[in-house]
Amino acid sequence: MRIVKTISEIREIIKEWRKEGNTIGLVPTMGYLHAGHGSLIETSVKNNNKTVVSVFVNPTQFGPNEDLEKYPRDIKRDSELVSSLGGDIIFNPEPDEMYNKNNKTIIKVEGLSEKLCGITRPVHFAGVCQVVSKLFNIVTPDNSYFGLKDFQQYVIIKKMVEDLNFPVKINPVEIVREESGLALSSRNVYLTDDERKSALSLNQSLKKASLLIKNGENNADVIINEIRKIITSVPYTIIDYIKIVDPETLEDIKTVNNKYAVLLAVYVGNTRLIDNFSELS
Ligand code: PAF
Repeated sequence: MRIVKTISEIREIIKEWRKEGNTIGLVPTMGYLHAGHGSLIETSVKNNNKTVVSVFVNPTQFGPNEDLEKYPRDIKRDSELVSSLGGDIIFNPEPDEMYNKNNKTIIKVEGLSEKLCGITRPVHFAGVCQVVSKLFNIVTPDNSYFGLKDFQQYVIIKKMVEDLNFPVKINPVEIVREESGLALSSRNVYLTDDERKSALSLNQSLKKASLLIKNGENNADVIINEIRKIITSVPYTIIDYIKIVDPETLEDIKTVNNKYAVLLAVYVGNTRLIDNFSELS
């Protein structure tokens, strides 16, 4: 396993891999890897001859008052994980390598980027699309892997790839949870012990919602109210949104049928957490 810092070097390696007839999987990450990333990497290693994991805390997807500076970083631990899972390369460029000062291009997936997390994080998805499209152009993967915890991100990237004809298949990977039910996230390290207890209400409320739906409840408002009750019953939580949406358009739905996504964003103390479950077929 090698750590590559420059675009020219990774392009050379990819050229060689292509000459040898290899297929390539890309797992884009911002590092501080956990078992959720591990599951993306394992899926890529299983389905491609070569796997590149990008580790890049992308400055353009953070708003001015967000946690860019304090976002956790640990490249040594990341390399150990990638290596143990059979990844071939970590692409770990510096910001100056990825962005020239005169960068003018942004990508907006209209109708999807402004909703949900896009309301409180207005520059976020333009930054995500910018860096992911650059990574696709640099690594030219056959497959790329995205966790369903970032459900809106997955939907936006899929649409961007379809609209801009990127020759890459976007593969969703299930959410990985702690035994407690808390969805794994690099930002969980910000939680105090008490906040962590309160954070369990997110998954608990989603489980309740899933049970209601299984038992035939299809009124979205009723389900949302049950979720709200559970989350507001614990300390430190402030709800940003609870939504039930169509999983492709992200438009609100009033009646839950066979295709839906139940999405939450909740501040627990100062940490904004997201979680969801969905039925995509
Ligand atoms: O999901 C993430 O970690 C990031 O948004 C991504 C896709 C690596 C882009 O920086």
